[in-house]
Amino acid sequence: MRFPQHAALIAALLAGASLAAPVFAQQQAANSAQPSSASGAEARADALVRAMTLEEKLQLVHSYFPPLAKPQPPIAMIPSAGHVPGIPRLGIPTLRESDASLGVANQVEQRKGDVATALPASIATAATFNPRLAYEGGAMIGAEARAKTFNILLAGGINLTRDPWNGRNFEYLGEDPLLAGVMAGEHIKGVQSNAIVSTIKHFALNSQETGRTVLDARIDRAALRESDLLAFQIATEIGKPASVMCAYNKVNGDYACENDWLLNTVLKQDWGYKGWVMSDWGAVHSTQKAAMNGLDQDSGQELDDAMYFDKALAGAVKDGSVPMARLDDMVRRILFGVIDSGLMDKPVPDSAQPIDYAAHAEVAQRAAEEGIVLLKNKGDLLPLAKTAKKIVLIGAHADVGVLSGGGSSQVRSVGGAPVEIPLTKGAAASFARITWHASSPLQAIRALAPQASVTYLDGSDPKAAAKAVRGADMAIVFAWAWRTEAQDPESMALPDQQDALIEAVAAANAKTLVVLESGGPVLMPWVDRVPAILSAWYPGQRGGEAIARILFGGVDPSGRLPITFPASVDQAPRSEPAGLAELHAADARRSAGNKTVYGMSGGVAPFTVDYPEGAEVGYRWYAAKQRKPLFPFGYGLTYTRFSYANLKIEGGAGLTVGFDVTNTGKRAGADVPQVYVEAKSAAGTRAYRLAGFEKVSLAPGETRHVSVTVDPRVIARFDEAAPGWKVDAGAYPVVVGHFAGDTALKGTAMLDALSARP
Ligand code: BGC
Repeated sequence: MRFPQHAALIAALLAGASLAAPVFAQQQAANSAQPSSASGAEARADALVRAMTLEEKLQLVHSYFPPLAKPQPPIAMIPSAGHVPGIPRLGIPTLRESDASLGVANQVEQRKGDVATALPASIATAATFNPRLAYEGGAMIGAEARAKTFNILLAGGINLTRDPWNGRNFEYLGEDPLLAGVMAGEHIKGVQSNAIVSTIKHFALNSQETGRTVLDARIDRAALRESDLLAFQIATEIGKPASVMCAYNKVNGDYACENDWLLNTVLKQDWGYKGWVMSDWGAVHSTQKAAMNGLDQDSGQELDDAMYFDKALAGAVKDGSVPMARLDDMVRRILFGVIDSGLMDKPVPDSAQPIDYAAHAEVAQRAAEEGIVLLKNKGDLLPLAKTAKKIVLIGAHADVGVLSGGGSSQVRSVGGAPVEIPLTKGAAASFARITWHASSPLQAIRALAPQASVTYLDGSDPKAAAKAVRGADMAIVFAWAWRTEAQDPESMALPDQQDALIEAVAAANAKTLVVLESGGPVLMPWVDRVPAILSAWYPGQRGGEAIARILFGGVDPSGRLPITFPASVDQAPRSEPAGLAELHAADARRSAGNKTVYGMSGGVAPFTVDYPEGAEVGYRWYAAKQRKPLFPFGYGLTYTRFSYANLKIEGGAGLTVGFDVTNTGKRAGADVPQVYVEAKSAAGTRAYRLAGFEKVSLAPGETRHVSVTVDPRVIARFDEAAPGWKVDAGAYPVVVGHFAGDTALKGTAMLDALSARP
């Protein structure tokens, strides 16, 4: 894997640097989390602040929530997430904010008829293990946003998957800090390559949706630095997002958006971050505390229980409880981001511009094709021969489309929504519908198998499905599990009796394939009775075509799981969301007709969530507890085979791991060899950690040498007392494998002691 930010480290190593600390320091200088100031952005922001009136400064530090804003600001608002009026006399543009994790969002079609290209879910992009695709997706979204006159994108979701059931896992990048950090960083870099702003979100530990606005997430600080914060840190260094969105929840007692340690100490002081912190929508709870503890902009202010950064902040500045210097700092940070991203010098057009949707659909298709993971392929059932005569598709509306995840990230995709089911209850009901993108697997499969009879049944009647698949060359059950922002599922089982449907079909036809459309793991009680399983995630607006191409071998499956699939819920650190009791109590009060004003929390009483697993997230937890998951992190099959040889480890003041990858099969394909290094956390636990990976495409028989330079922080422990990163001198076991727990090649690195600033 090539990290551009490692250039300084590598140069130093090549120059023969042997003193550990300076090498680490040079790497950190190259890694600085602040956006580049090559443009003189700091000086320009300073000059603007000096030229601004108090009213103008106050105008920039809060955004309107267009659906609720009264009175409307002078420049028309686009129905979307946020709006900050610009200051034309100083050339400061109006900030138009849209959600954009997987495409320019348009939840519940608030802008009638406005479509955009929908990428697969972010977790599918993570499954590509291909940073280039993450960049391309971001660049595509940014181009569409600009053409639609948006200039601030609420993207870059990177909360680590701690719980397999988290409702928003589909919007994130899995459970590993290195993988998530690199992929989010590249995505953000892609968005901002359009001279607009991307956020990174939600800072930090917004790891579940149940009670997200009231819960207090408790974790050891060093463990947080070694896990979730490391993901943010790596992504921030690579992507240089102009803005960081703080989360709804509390972290160790204080709301994330008024958390001095998170915002001032970690982000701004330790990481030297120069952009601005914007709140999540409705995540602000105070004026003075939030302002002094690091929040720079209150987002969608009408969603807070009071408008803390509007007149209240003006009052606080007047009475000195928030010094003018701090208001200036808030404004300077916003302007720095706006200038440094290029937005100030290259304003977005005044009116919507044409978009090359056909070209953008190709980007979505490439991401889907590389993100789909082949989980099981007994007897090489796939790829399916083009000579197949009878193929039966069942379920999940596979005749018309593919499922997407719900919430603020929902894209109204090109082609519209052939199936859209409104919600009748739950926290997501006001802004989410169960939505299918118009990408029909049925049509795509028919197009690739013109000689075959390809039919579809909705799956509502398992007996009819079993009858229909008898004698078919392949039975394909499309299984679905919808996930959404604002809610966690209370069960990880497939809904709607789909397990029974799969069992019935598999019993009737030995050539049964399950194509899973889900935001993450589901329980698979039928796993041993089904020969082939494909995880398509939510595959985006070209998902049908991507699935069909994989089925017939037009493209070799090369996705790998960015998240562990547990065999049962009790294998995970928490088998269900914390706060379910509080959620149910609020629901009961509501059904009993209680007229309390529920606000953002929906009336859920505050509760705490403990994260005793600390830094040992995901596959590290399973290894520590010696639990064998259903499918491990990093896992994914191909239609060919790959082998590894010639391990070469260079230790000392840095760590480089080299090896050869050979395609030993008969077909071309792509592999993702993974380097894991065993290291000790601050908490004293030892675990193999993903230290590098690379996606390699190889022709049959071809061998390629791969060399991975390891970011020392991935193998370091965080010393809160220093504070800083520490690598102890000694021997570090290294493995190269096809997935977490695989030990295809084994060796040991001898490392010098390293220490460095946070
Ligand atoms: C979500 C954010 C989103 C914001 C604006 C919040 O509910 O947590 O991710 O950017 O809404 O739509």
